[in-house]
Amino acid sequence: MRMKRTHNTLELGKHILGQESVLNGWVNTRRDHGGLIFVDLRDRYGIVQIVFSPDVNKESFHMAEQIRSEYVIAVRGSLSERPDGSENPKLHTGQVEIYVEELEILNKAKTPPFYIEDGVEVDEMLRLKYRYLDLRRPEMKNNIIKRHKVVQSLRDFLDRHDFLEIETPILGRSTPEGARDYLVPSRLRQGEFFALPQSPQQYKQILMAAGMEKYFQIARCFRDEDLRADRQPEFTQLDMEMSFCSEEDIFTLIEAMMRQIFKVGMDRDIPLPFKRLTYNQAMSVYGSDKPDLRFDLPIVDISEQVRGADFKVFASALEIQGVVRAINAKGCASFTRKEIDELGKIAVENGAKGMAWIVVEQIELRSPITKFFTEEQIAQILKILNAEPGDLLLFGADKADIVARVLGNIRLEIAKRMNLINDQELNFCWITDFPLLEYDAEEKRYVAVHHPFTAPKEDDIALMETRPQNLRARAYDLILNGTEIGGGSIRIHQRGVQEKMFSLLGLSSEEIKDKFGFMLEAFDYGTPPHGGIAFGIDRLLMIMTGCNSIRDVIAFPKTQSASCPMTNAPSEVSPKQLQELSIKIRGK
Ligand code: AMO
Ligand code: AMP
Repeated sequence: MRMKRTHNTLELGKHILGQESVLNGWVNTRRDHGGLIFVDLRDRYGIVQIVFSPDVNKESFHMAEQIRSEYVIAVRGSLSERPDGSENPKLHTGQVEIYVEELEILNKAKTPPFYIEDGVEVDEMLRLKYRYLDLRRPEMKNNIIKRHKVVQSLRDFLDRHDFLEIETPILGRSTPEGARDYLVPSRLRQGEFFALPQSPQQYKQILMAAGMEKYFQIARCFRDEDLRADRQPEFTQLDMEMSFCSEEDIFTLIEAMMRQIFKVGMDRDIPLPFKRLTYNQAMSVYGSDKPDLRFDLPIVDISEQVRGADFKVFASALEIQGVVRAINAKGCASFTRKEIDELGKIAVENGAKGMAWIVVEQIELRSPITKFFTEEQIAQILKILNAEPGDLLLFGADKADIVARVLGNIRLEIAKRMNLINDQELNFCWITDFPLLEYDAEEKRYVAVHHPFTAPKEDDIALMETRPQNLRARAYDLILNGTEIGGGSIRIHQRGVQEKMFSLLGLSSEEIKDKFGFMLEAFDYGTPPHGGIAFGIDRLLMIMTGCNSIRDVIAFPKTQSASCPMTNAPSEVSPKQLQELSIKIRGK
C-alpha cells in the first residue's frame, strides 16, 4: 500500500479547502458521466464524493473506468468546493469533493449479493452468511458503534461508582437459570463435562464472599432454549453484584445508570424515579409480569359483579376459585364480527375456552351473553368497566393465571390494532414482590421463579416450613416498553436458609452437597449480605436502536436454529477429536 490515509471522511470539510489529502476506503457507488467519473468513497466515518477527470490525471481516470462497487481504493487529491447547485445536504461532506490525482486499487471485489445500503429487503439468512457485507451497511454499522458507546458508558459509570470489573470462567459448572446447558466435554477427565455459564450467578456471589463488595462484568451467557426475536443462545449481560445493599440501593443506582446510558445511546433525558408495580398488581391489571405501560387498557376484575348470574361459563370459573375479568376496548364497537372472532382466536391460542363480548351501542347492547344477566348486573358491569357507547367489552373467565395470560395478550393486540403505542416513548417500570416458588405440575415439585439463590422476604421466612407457595421473593425485574431488560434479587447469604431453599426445590442432601457444596461452605466463612442484578445488553440496544430483533445489534448472531450461516457452526468434528474425548455418536 503506497498511499496511507491522511484524513478520514469525517475530517473533511470546507475548513481544509485546497489541502492535499489521501483517503482509503470502499467504492460505494460509481457514476460514469463520459468525461468525468464520480465515485462515492465510503469509510467507517461516512462518504465523500471523489471525481476522476482526464484533465487532472489521465492514468487515474482510465484506472477508474475499471473500478466497481466495494473495490478498496486509496486516492490522493486536493479538496475543492463543489460547484454551486451540486452540493449534497444529506452528506456531512456534501459541500466538498476531491479531484483525484492518484488512484491505487488495494483490492477488487465481486458484485455483492445485496446492496450495501440501508433498508435492503433481503433474506436474513443471506445477510448472516455475508455478515461482513451486512455490517458495511450504515444502519448496521451504526448499531455496532452505538453498542460500543453504551457499553463504554456503562463501564465508565460503574468505575465511577467503585465497581470492579472481574472476569469469571466460561468453562464451569452448571448454573441453574432455568434453561438447558451447553456442555463441553473434558479430555483430561473423560466422561466429565463443563457447562457454559447460563449466567455468572454463583461466581459473582462467591466474589462477594471474597470481599470484593462491588463487582460487574460484561458477561457472555449461554442458554440452550427456544429462540425468539429477543432471545439468543449466547447473549451478553451487564452482570452486577453488591454487598451490604438493600433493594432501594440497587434501584437508585440502576436508575442513575439508565439515565446516563439513555442519554448516551438515544440522547434522551429519562425521568426518574421509575414506576413500581408488585407482581400481583402487574398480573391482575395488565395480565403480564412485563407489562407494556405505554398505553392503559387495564384489566378489571368483575367476579363480584357477576357472582350468582345465570351464565354457566362465568359461574363454573368462580366455582373452581377462578376469576372473571374484562377489558374495555375503548372505541372498538366498530370491530366487525370477523374482527371480534379473530380476537377470540387469539384468546383460545393463549389457553382460553372462549371469549365472551359485549358491544356497547348508542341505544342498546349487542352480545351473545347479555341474556344471562339481570338488568342490574349489566348496569354494574358497565359501570365498573366505565363503558360508554362505542366500546367493546371482552371477557375472560377461568383460573387467574389463564385469564391473565389471555387478557394480557388481548390487551396487546387491541393496542396494536388501535395504534395506541407511541413508539417514541420510553416507559420503565420495576416489578417487585415476585413469588419465590411456583409449582411445576409436570415435575411435581416447586421450582424457583427467579433462581434458587434469591432470598425470601424476611417477614415470610417462617412460611418456608408451612406455606411455601405463599413465599414472596426479594426479586425485582426492570421492564422497558413491555420487554424485560433486567432482573435480580437480594440473595440468601446464610447456610441454613439456602439449604432449606434447596430442599424445598426437591434436592436431596447428596445433590445439594455435590452441586452447591462450595457455595454453602463459603456461606460458613463470613459471606456478607448481598444482592445484584443483570441486564440484557442486546435487549437494551435493540430498544435504543429501534430494531425488532436483538440479532441486529449483535455482530455475529445465531439463526433461529442456533447456527451460524457464515461459519456453518455447529459442525461435525473429526473422528480423532471424538476419540480423544471418548465420545461416540449414536448411529455412526
Ligand atoms: P435473568 O435470567 O433474568 O437473570 O437474565 C437477566 C437478563 O438477561 C437478558 N436475557 C437474555 N437476552 C437475550 N437472550 C436470552 N436468551 C436471554 N436470557 C436473558 C434479559 C434478562 O432480564 N443471574 C440472574 C441475574 C441476577 O439475579 O443478578 C440472571 O441471569 O434481559
Ligand atoms: P357458550 O355458552 O360456550 O357458547 O359460550 C358463550 C360465550 O362465552 C361465547 O362467546 C364464548 O366464546 C364465551 N366463553 C366461553 N368460555 C369462556 C371463558 N372461559 N371465558 C370467557 N368467555 C368464554
